[in-house]
Amino acid sequence: MRFLLLSLGLCLLLSSCREEPKINYSATKTADFSTAAVAGPHPLATKVALKVLQNGGNAIDAAVAMQFAMAVVYPRAGNIGGGGFLVYRDADGNSEALDYREQAPAAADRDMYLDEEGNVVQGLSTRGHLAVGVPGTVAGIAEMHRKHGSRPWKDLVGYSIDLAMNGYRLSQSEVGRIKRYHDDFAEFNKSTPFSDTTVVEGSLIVQPALAATLRRIRDKGAAGFYKGKTAELIVKEMKSGGGLITLEDLANYKPAWREPISKDYKEYRIISMPPSSSGGLCLAQMVEMLEPYPLSDWGFQSTPAVHTTVEAMRRAYADRAEYMGDSDFYPVPLDSLLDDDYLAGRMNDFREDSAGTSDAIVAGLEAVRESYETTHISIIDAAGNAVSITTTLNGNFGSKVMVDEGGFFLNNEMDDFSAKPGVPNMFGLIGKEANAIMPGKRMLSSMTPTIVEKDGELFLVLGAPGGSTIITAVLQTFLNVTEYGMPLAEAVNAPRFHHQYLPDVIVHEADALGNGVKEDLEKMGHQFRETKYMAVIKALQRLPEGTIVAAADRRNPDDDVKGY
Ligand code: DON
Repeated sequence: MRFLLLSLGLCLLLSSCREEPKINYSATKTADFSTAAVAGPHPLATKVALKVLQNGGNAIDAAVAMQFAMAVVYPRAGNIGGGGFLVYRDADGNSEALDYREQAPAAADRDMYLDEEGNVVQGLSTRGHLAVGVPGTVAGIAEMHRKHGSRPWKDLVGYSIDLAMNGYRLSQSEVGRIKRYHDDFAEFNKSTPFSDTTVVEGSLIVQPALAATLRRIRDKGAAGFYKGKTAELIVKEMKSGGGLITLEDLANYKPAWREPISKDYKEYRIISMPPSSSGGLCLAQMVEMLEPYPLSDWGFQSTPAVHTTVEAMRRAYADRAEYMGDSDFYPVPLDSLLDDDYLAGRMNDFREDSAGTSDAIVAGLEAVRESYETTHISIIDAAGNAVSITTTLNGNFGSKVMVDEGGFFLNNEMDDFSAKPGVPNMFGLIGKEANAIMPGKRMLSSMTPTIVEKDGELFLVLGAPGGSTIITAVLQTFLNVTEYGMPLAEAVNAPRFHHQYLPDVIVHEADALGNGVKEDLEKMGHQFRETKYMAVIKALQRLPEGTIVAAADRRNPDDDVKGY
């Protein structure tokens, strides 16, 4: 059996088995394997998943162990203090989605981030204790294991305890990040394992408090987090900084199995995350709007292809702002939003020769201001079960609050709510009533863990971090493979663009829209902003004869992370 371990650093070792791509987008982080594959953001966590698979565990077992391992070695995004989504397709073709997104605490209020004049108080939803939603990760991992796990829970959690106690070595970029966030850590914490600015490349990070928390989770399952000592530590931490989460909030947290969004596009079927994510809905809307157009004839990033794709993006994100939120709390019109006639009608006002307009409700803020902090893992096991998981703290190290004696960072996911109608969040996204804050509600996400079938067979497993750019990155990667005929690594690495309705600009990478395309689009009335920040895809592709191709994105800022 040959397994694929694809991750940062290690993946470079695997590059020799690739042919030179037609278009060279530095497609170095890719490899082909025959049985099972794991793509993830950190080699140590990916190794853990690999070990689980080699010991006969299935894709869910590997994902369980890997997520806990990421909470140890990838603390800026891997987490037990955040939340996430699973899209799962078993080897028989049954698919389901697990929503373990954070929830607003019971004491949360729709105007909690507004001052007396009704203006949003900058920073309140992004930094510190008030920014924290009730974490869902541990409940989600326990639930996916309860339903689909085959290996003992204790063994799977055990890997992360070893990593926390034995330590991991810092890369140069991780050292830089520790220094950059020092003042934030100092503002909200007495001390953390990441507060020492004398660290250098190769310094060992040992996390005994986190190991103790993980032992409680190992011994008691989700109750080791949501009840007893860990819950008490979280609540104590909340009280120390004006946070809202109570013991009841924690005890009441429940993940939810949901019907995935499923949409056919030619011979493909896209299976993706429903609300509380907007990802699957927007992705499905965009492919349906684009299906009638001859994208492959037009060619990759030709003027008409970009123009049409941008206009589909604009319309999907307009619907996101208006209609999308947690469907347990707001009647998201799922059927209407996915209706073929509705979506065909959505393009009625599309003009081939000129840009559409987004109502200028607000002046355009930066669409993406921070770097990538969420994390995506794609796994296919030897039986053909596929796991697509995106999990997050939201910002780098979340709220920057670490639970004292608990050893883990808490999310700042409350910023994904619409703090005030029409006022952009940190990704420049706006929302309205559908995504207003309510106690117990989940904040709207853009995370888009996705599985694609071709002619009914497993074809792609993909997803990404990257805030609002996640959905358009998944769309473009899908189209690059299916319409533009690219091998997976090229599809992942090809330059990208992004439009999210507001601000009304095409955000694009420096190497996108070349050969006069940008100038042509400008003449049609489009506006632009160049960015360095785009989603970071992790993707697997199963070829017809069973080979699994894996590709990690050239965009990952952590290329130097240590695999030891
Ligand atoms: O759920 C969301 O859409 C965001 N909290 C994801 C954040 C993210 O991807 C951060 N990386 N840039």
